[in-house]
Amino acid sequence: MAIMDIVKEGEPVLRQKAQPVTRVTKKIRRLIKDMMETMYAADGVGLAAPQVGIPQRIIVVDIGDGPIALINPEIDESSGQEIDVEGCLSIPGVFGYVERAAHVVVAGLNEAGKATRIVADDLLARALQHEIDHLEGVLFIDRAIEVAAEESGE
Ligand code: NI
Repeated sequence: MAIMDIVKEGEPVLRQKAQPVTRVTKKIRRLIKDMMETMYAADGVGLAAPQVGIPQRIIVVDIGDGPIALINPEIDESSGQEIDVEGCLSIPGVFGYVERAAHVVVAGLNEAGKATRIVADDLLARALQHEIDHLEGVLFIDRAIEVAAEESGE
């Protein structure tokens, strides 16, 4: 496994619409493993493939309940709304309040290429919506009601 470089805001790949994965190959499974490793190393709760420079529709999320990988994820159902703070590994040191659906059902393929559905609330729902936004070239700062930079101390 390998830790990948995380692309930062300003790189065009973050503003591109990512392409669907047509076949879940060994290469895709290896990419998912590397994305997980990269997310954990950066202390993040989610990562989308464009954030490692790959414009394909793949996300990984772990809010502390175990890893989830989704290929070609689609939001099937969403309801409720919640405003909470978000950050992004591609925009270090910046946080903002974003309104998201409180409950979502996301359909996609797992790393084995099997159709799967994730029913999510609150933080997991938020993380999934944030990562799926990345696949459309949307960043949380586009949706944030209020954005603040944290003092880096550097
Ligand atoms: Ni992000």
